[in-house]
Amino acid sequence: MIKISDINKIREDFYLLKNSDLTYLDNAASSLKPQQVIDALNYYNEKLGVNVHRGVYKLSYEATDLYEKARQKVADFIHCKFKEVVFTRGASSALNLVASSYGMKYINEGDEIITSELEHHSSMLPWQHVAKVKKAKLIYVPLDAEHRITIENFKKVLTHKTKVVALTHASNVMGYITPIKEIIKLAHEVGAVVSVDGAQSVPHMKVDVKELDCDFISFSGHKMCGPTGIGVLYGKYKLLQSMDPVEFGGDMIDYVYLQDVTFKDAPYKFETGTPIIAGAIGIGAAIDYLNEIGFDFIESQESKLRIYALTQLKNIEGLQLFNPNTDTGIISFNIEGVHPHDVASAFDQENVAIRAGHHCAQPLMNCLKQVATVRASFYFYNTEKDIDNLVEAIKKAKEFFDLFK
Ligand SMILES: Cc1ncc(COP(=O)(O)O)c(C=O)c1O
Repeated sequence: MIKISDINKIREDFYLLKNSDLTYLDNAASSLKPQQVIDALNYYNEKLGVNVHRGVYKLSYEATDLYEKARQKVADFIHCKFKEVVFTRGASSALNLVASSYGMKYINEGDEIITSELEHHSSMLPWQHVAKVKKAKLIYVPLDAEHRITIENFKKVLTHKTKVVALTHASNVMGYITPIKEIIKLAHEVGAVVSVDGAQSVPHMKVDVKELDCDFISFSGHKMCGPTGIGVLYGKYKLLQSMDPVEFGGDMIDYVYLQDVTFKDAPYKFETGTPIIAGAIGIGAAIDYLNEIGFDFIESQESKLRIYALTQLKNIEGLQLFNPNTDTGIISFNIEGVHPHDVASAFDQENVAIRAGHHCAQPLMNCLKQVATVRASFYFYNTEKDIDNLVEAIKKAKEFFDLFK
């Protein structure tokens, strides 16, 4: 078990944290990758580099073994069965897979799909498309005054017509944790299935899909110390088995006839063509790494940083803080009178990397009455010094832009 005092040791694992004075606070977009993950990727690319499943030679057996062991690591990580883990290109493709496969098969005219204005576009747009094509209704949970999803408001939109609930577990702009377990229970009472966007929760907190009882959860490797180009769709096996593939071709078939085809069982029927071999091995290595750090450490470090940051940011005059009660290491703000992109460029001069924009959540920007916000997001390898650098960068940016007012 890693102790808080080991933070410097942890930072040694990340090239940029070890070798530069970068203050990296854009973790909600992508986390940095530790050497252990890079080594695993290099091992596959350099020492193996071959295809999986079909090769009848030692290298291919080893690559297949590493690829499938990575699936088991994911399954253990989120507490599901091996065959319930589908490798995808990322959270977006996993969320899309649920909509284009489950949604297109089971949603009918007049059915209701519940989502929210807090969603990342990748959680919401696939269902907007299904609703349009199937003439179903897309219903939004009213957000509360703080722009949170609450159980009370969810109950207001849940009906016997609700067939799917597609909600974020942790907001990528406001950092709020959705009371998803209770929502899932209520949704199941009316027979609806729940697709959870876990892109911002799985990297940061213990997520047990069996305990949540979610039907689907989607997340990306690159936000949890893994490589880009790999993600995961967890689905209850019965549901995955009942769904049709959305891509057709190599590796996913059982037998091909001229006018028909039979498919492999889940998860393989959803992994068409040469799979994301290096990516899967990389996410497996990332999970090993996160397990070694431990979620007790991850959660306590991020919570410590959140409190430290909020205490300082709340006291900066002219700083509009949009989520002073954030539950996670995601903080959204603007400097009054300065465009967020100008703020981000000013921060860059100080070597502070943050994100400015609509964060793929334009409906939420409308709720906040902003075109964009600045977002700082922490991970377990950040320190109080990083927050001090952020505060210093804000003060300098304010001073600079005040000259033009
Ligand atoms: C909440 C949320 N959902 C989905 C996504 C999409 O993830 P990806 O771009 O890895 O597919 C993101 C990415 O920022 C996100 O923050």
